[in-house]
Amino acid sequence: MTNKKTEKATFNRKSLWDKIYSENSSMEVSWYQQHPEISLKLIRSTGVDLTARIIDVGGGTSTLVDYLLDAGYENLEVLDISHSAIEQTRSRLNRRADKVIWHKNDITKFSSNISFDVWHDRAVFHFLTDKDDRAKYVRALSNALKSGSHAIIATFDLDGPEKCSGLNIVRYSSEALSDIFGDAFQLVETRTEEHVTPSGIKQSFVYCRFVRL
Ligand SMILES: C[S@@+](CC[C@H](N)C(=O)[O-])C[C@H]1O[C@@H](n2cnc3c(N)ncnc32)[C@H](O)[C@@H]1O
Repeated sequence: MTNKKTEKATFNRKSLWDKIYSENSSMEVSWYQQHPEISLKLIRSTGVDLTARIIDVGGGTSTLVDYLLDAGYENLEVLDISHSAIEQTRSRLNRRADKVIWHKNDITKFSSNISFDVWHDRAVFHFLTDKDDRAKYVRALSNALKSGSHAIIATFDLDGPEKCSGLNIVRYSSEALSDIFGDAFQLVETRTEEHVTPSGIKQSFVYCRFVRL
């Protein structure tokens, strides 16, 4: 993609997600979870200690950061393309928001000088329907993690929905995710989830934990 096209795609993505978050409460969106159980289990199974540097990519208004703070994790970062989502999460956390580093950014443009111990993404990678964007994501992920660090990626499973919030997504099996991240990452754990949306619809998710080689 040319720079102009990339900028336009990012702008469209940002305004779209800002619109979604300004028109719906965080508890109404289809991906809402009161308790992000599998994410927390997978983060615990990495075995990292409380000083580990953990980033929730596309964290939106997820309560994951709240539970990680409750558990005593000290170095948390949340990235999202939506200004509105980040501001809602910051305001929910109130003073505790100052303990977290916030990034308002498109993940396909993200780079960090310091590496992370854990990268968590629930329902973000699957929105990248463009091959170049997926390649940029994999590059950002590979650069942000050092050998032995963990990547937890959750997407709609093969029998999951074909769209989310009217947007096209790509559904994956753990094997397909492994093929995408495979060269630099080893798949060490897979879990599936039957997520129930606030309106009662079931959605199949697959969660994969990889270790950076
Ligand atoms: C379906 S929501 C999932 C939110 C959160 N991970 C959760 O499980 O509750 C997708 C999130 O990804 C964010 N997002 C979408 N595309 C993005 C991108 N290219 N870069 C960063 N964030 C993005 C959206 O703003 C939204 O918060």
